[in-house]
Order: sequence, then structure tokens, then C-alpha cells
Amino acid sequence: MCGIIGFTGRREASPVLLDGLRRLEYRGYDSAGLITGTGNAFHLRKKAGRLAELAKAVSAHPAPGCYGISHTRWATHGGATDRNAHPHLDASGRIAIVHNGVIENYATLKHQLRADGVTFRSDTDTEVLAHLIGHYYHGDLVAAVRQALALVKGTYGVAVVSKDDPGLIVGARLGSPLVIGVGDAGTYLASDANALAGYADKVVYLNDRQLCVLSGDEWEIRDQDLSPVATPLRDIAHFLGEGDAEKGDFPHFMLKEIYEQPETLANAMRGRLVDADSTAHFGGLNLSSQQLRQIDRVILTACGTSYHAGLVGEYLFEELARMPAEVEYASEFRYRNPPINRDTLVFAITQSGETADTLAALRESKRMGHTTLAICNAVGSSIAREACGGVYLHAGPEIGVASTKAFTSQCAVLAMLALYFGRTRHLSSLQGQRLIDELRALPDALRKTLGCHEQVKRIAAKYASARNVLYLGRQYLYPAALEGALKLKEISYIHAEGYPAAEMKHGPIALVDESTPSVFLVPRGNVFDKVMSNMQEIKARGGPVIAVASEGDEEVAALADDVIPVPDVPEYLQPIVVAIPLQLLAYEIALLCGCDVDKPRNLAKSVTVE
Ligand code: M6R
Repeated sequence: MCGIIGFTGRREASPVLLDGLRRLEYRGYDSAGLITGTGNAFHLRKKAGRLAELAKAVSAHPAPGCYGISHTRWATHGGATDRNAHPHLDASGRIAIVHNGVIENYATLKHQLRADGVTFRSDTDTEVLAHLIGHYYHGDLVAAVRQALALVKGTYGVAVVSKDDPGLIVGARLGSPLVIGVGDAGTYLASDANALAGYADKVVYLNDRQLCVLSGDEWEIRDQDLSPVATPLRDIAHFLGEGDAEKGDFPHFMLKEIYEQPETLANAMRGRLVDADSTAHFGGLNLSSQQLRQIDRVILTACGTSYHAGLVGEYLFEELARMPAEVEYASEFRYRNPPINRDTLVFAITQSGETADTLAALRESKRMGHTTLAICNAVGSSIAREACGGVYLHAGPEIGVASTKAFTSQCAVLAMLALYFGRTRHLSSLQGQRLIDELRALPDALRKTLGCHEQVKRIAAKYASARNVLYLGRQYLYPAALEGALKLKEISYIHAEGYPAAEMKHGPIALVDESTPSVFLVPRGNVFDKVMSNMQEIKARGGPVIAVASEGDEEVAALADDVIPVPDVPEYLQPIVVAIPLQLLAYEIALLCGCDVDKPRNLAKSVTVE
């Protein structure tokens, strides 16, 4: 989603800004812009479309100057046009602003500003803030930013410059991350520490409602009443995604990330499985043994793919830990007021750690007095910092917008957590040790599963022209079906639906015809025969069937039109194994449809608006 980078120092700003924006590209955006300053002149360039368009504009009309701010925009208010791209100027043209987040009361503020004679040049909520700051500006930019923000309802990460204060950048955050970076050439302000890799050595994150002031090598954080806040810098290495954010020999990040899964899964488990106690061990749960014993229920809250991992977690907690578990879309949970007893533990599951709804659900849970734990990939992200404790995935940066390796690692972490809680309750040491052995065998099972890629390619070629695809599974494989459908729709724009296989006859079976393939998740397990009956029902209505089945399963092969073999693993680990062919199928179909796999239309990697 939207990205910010600003720089003030002793070198030309525009190459730093463009490079920083490039590193934020994966988050998803539809336009980009920058502004630099020399003397008391501004140089503004902004373009709809890819960053290459902005780079072309800057190369045709250079933007000189040693300070500036820049932005990648993901449209919320107003279409993806040059005009709506950030930065935005106030009425006098003296103040420029870039903004992440949403100004919820922008319509009221706009109405008032219009009544005062302000003319708007864009359809954005951000421009309202530019004019407000301009309205309060009487020579003190920090004071004007503070006064303007006091009127704003919503969320923001902002960077502001003024022609009258060359080299000065003012930043502020509420609900949208901002990090200050300090390097040899000057200071930086960004929405993500990854944008500063190679430029800054040390960083410090702003907390909500804090402001910051940067100028050359100087930086300062201030609280709401503008008193300075002493905040230590930390090594940037601590906040950068582990591993390599390059594609290497892979044509797309998504494919690279699919292939990384044997390794990322091993990383998620490394050092956490303890034979001596036949349990899992986590360094950062921050739970006393008394708290641990008192917990009698868990809530798993998340969005998108992470929500699907949460659904897998529900089955895991119930089966392995015998604990009641509920899964909630974070966007719903944040506004509900369900009766929850004090001893409920709330998990926020998130790859990015910045998803606005998940962050809000976490805060609401904390407010109600619950212990909260994050299951998170991005180290140092807002959710990781605000939860009472948590577990990192250690999956390395996930760049493809479609989440792949984060999902399998989330499921593995949830399985380990269920083992951990199970061992404090009813699971015997022998049962615990069996689970440990099964988890340890998983990376090899995934390596083997990747062998299905050629078969998946053939199947993709056969079905790429379908306009609707159904994904069907039961029990642990129902969330896996939802996830398979999400993967296909988000990167190929083909309509897909995940459903519990047995529910088909209650309505959706009406969709089945010769042109609507069904992907059945049917490896051997407790409900195998039941799923086979469901498959018969689809075949009887002429629907083509692609089955993801146990290697060598003749019974499935005799009924399905196409089979993707996967190695046998215990049922609670099947969602992890079947994820691989489902990810590959979506990837191959999207390629055949000519889609931009890593940056699908309309989507952002990190959804930092509500
Ligand atoms: O970073 P998060 O895990 O909190 O993100 C949640 C969703 O936005 C994310 O999983 C989204 O659904 C993915 N694009 C799915 O592939």
C-alpha cells in the first residue's frame, strides 16, 4: 500500500527517493511522486502508473536539491491519476505533503476550507490536510502540522516540507508506520525500514501521536505537546527482513517464495522443538506459568490469507490442545463487542504486521484487558511491537503480493503453539514427541511436493480459460480450499470460491457445469470416503475434477479428470502440503492469462488503511 520516503542531507535527494520508492514497490501502488527543494524553490514531479513513469519524468525534468519527500500511492479517495498522486501542495504552494492512511472527516474539513475560499486541485483526502497545514502556517511548520492534525479523524503517516524551511522535514504518525533513519549522508524518514537499507545504519520508529523533525544530520522526536522524547536508535539490521529480497533465477518473487517453503518452514521451527520436554518452546510469549494455566480460550484474528491460517489454527487448537478457539476477521472483530471472558488469549496473525484492521483488533483486545500475542513475519512492525508477546515466522521478506510462504509458516507456528498448549494440558509426552517428529519431517515433505510443478503446469494449460473455479475440502482442508481460491482470484482475476465440500449440495452445486472445474482436496484421512462421495456428486453433474490426492491413490485417479499427487502427512499438516500445488496452480494460470503475478491489479501487499 502507500509508501513514504524522505531525505535531507548532503547529497542529491531524488536518486535516494526513487531508489527508496523502488524498494516499497512490492507493497502495491498505482501512482508515485516526489518533491525536492533548492533555495526557496520546489521541484514537483508526479505520475500515475508504475515508478518507471516517475523516473522518466525526473530524467526529462530533473528535480535537484538535497532534501525532499516522495510517495507511492494506492488510491482510496479519487482515481489513480497524475493529479491525485502525492505530494500535494497547500493553497500558497509553500507547503508540500505526502500521506499514508485515510482522513475520515475529510468531507467536513473540505467543506469548511471551500467556504474559506480554498480551491482543490485533486480528489484526495490528503489535499485537505495540505491546505489545513497551510492555513495554520505562520512561519512554524511543526506547530502548523500539530494544529492541523489535531482536527483530523482517521489515520496518518505524513511527511511535510515547506519552501520557507529548506532542508527541514516534519513527520507525524497515527496508525500508519513511520521510521527515522540516520546515515552518513543525512537523515531519512520512511514508512518501512526496508526502504532505507544501504542508506541508514540506525533507525528509530515513531509511536502513535508522535511528531518528528529532521534537518541534515539532526533529528528529534516530539510528543503531542511538542516536548522532545528521548528515543534510542537501533541498528537497522534488526528491522530488515532476513534473507534476500532479490528474485535470483526465478522469473517472479511469487515463484521464488513458493520454492523457498521447505527452508522457511524449517526456519519457523528451528530451535523451537524441544525433545527433552516433548513440546515446543517460544522465546517471546511473555506469559507467566500462572497466566498460561488460566487461559481457557483463544481467539485468532487476522485478514486474508492470515485469516485462513487462523481457521487452520482453530482446528489445531481444538484437536491438539483441546481448547475452544474462534477465528474472527479483524475488520469485524474491531467493531464487535462480544462477551469474552478475561482468560481469553487473543492472537493477531499477520505477515506484514501493519494491516490496519488487525492492528485495530489487537488494540481493542488490549483495551479490553486481554493478553495478546502476534504471529508475525515482519520484525519490528507495529503489531509485533504492540502485542504483549509473540512468535516470529522467520520466513524472510515476502515480496509477491500473493502470500505464500507466510501462510505455510503461520500454519506451522500454530501447530507448534497447539502442541505447546496441549502439553500444558492433556497431551502425553509420547503424543508430544510424535507431533515433534511429524513437524520435523515436514520440510522434506514440501521438497517432495514441489515435484508436482510440471504436472500442475499441464493442468493449468487445460483449465486456464475457465471463468469460475471451485475449491473444495473438508475439516483441515476447508481453510486450505478457501486459501486456494483466494490465490487464484487475486492473481488471475478468475472467479473462484472455496467451500466445505459437503455444503455444495446446499446451493453452490447449481454452479457446476462442464466449464466449471472443481479442485478437490482429497488426500487420505478420516473424511476421505465422505469427500469422495462429494466428488461423485460433482462428476454426476458433468463438472471436471482436479484432485489433490495422496501419491499413488488409484481410487481418486479413477474418478478425477486430473490428479496432483502430494506426499502423505498427518491430517493436521495437510493444509501446509496442499498449499504448494494450489499456489503453483494459481501462479501458472495467472501466467497463462498474462497477469502481473507479483503485482496484481488493485491490490497492495500491506493493507494499511481500513
Ligand atoms: O500482512 P497480513 O498478513 O496482515 O495481510 C493480510 C492480507 O492482506 C493478506 O494476507 C492478503 O490477503 C494477501 N494478498 C493474500 O495473498
